[in-house]
Amino acid sequence: MTHSLETASYDPRAICAALGIAVEAVEARGLRLYPAAESLAVADVDHKGREFLMAPAAGRAWQAMKAAAAADGIEIYLISAYRSVERQAEIIRAKLDAGATIADILTVLAPPGYSEHHTGRAVDLTCPDAPAVQQGFELTAAFAWLQANANRFGFVMSYPPGNASGYRYEPWHWCFQGVEGG
Ligand code: DAL
Ligand code: ZN
Repeated sequence: MTHSLETASYDPRAICAALGIAVEAVEARGLRLYPAAESLAVADVDHKGREFLMAPAAGRAWQAMKAAAAADGIEIYLISAYRSVERQAEIIRAKLDAGATIADILTVLAPPGYSEHHTGRAVDLTCPDAPAVQQGFELTAAFAWLQANANRFGFVMSYPPGNASGYRYEPWHWCFQGVEGG
């Protein structure tokens, strides 16, 4: 089932300002605003029954990629897929409340409005025995499989080491960019 979304009416400048994020500095870093997903569908359900939403084409690509990995004996599963601009702001707020500085937070989290996650195309992935959202994921067979195969399904690792966006290396974060000619 596909869920339609109301046209995004958020104001990223106001949301960032409320968190003490200077949009000028964010844009000087080369980050850009991404449009919010226009529609979302349930792409997957975890063993606890939690539903993961994605943009429909991205969700179908995720399902195909997961099935292909499984056929190769590799189990890959979702930690996170779509999350709203407001949810991104809540996560940042919680880290601020826990005492982190905004400069440190923005090396691991995108400012609200600037994350691929609210496009419905980004996924955070893990596998059995890997620590979730940690760089050790790069040592797993699942990561090796993704490096060899994800592009075929339209997924690209957004934040490799030394990425131009200024985020720390995120081997778990992949974004559906579409398949050429498909
Ligand atoms: N962790 C990535 C940068 C995000 O928050 O979108
Ligand atoms: Zn991510």
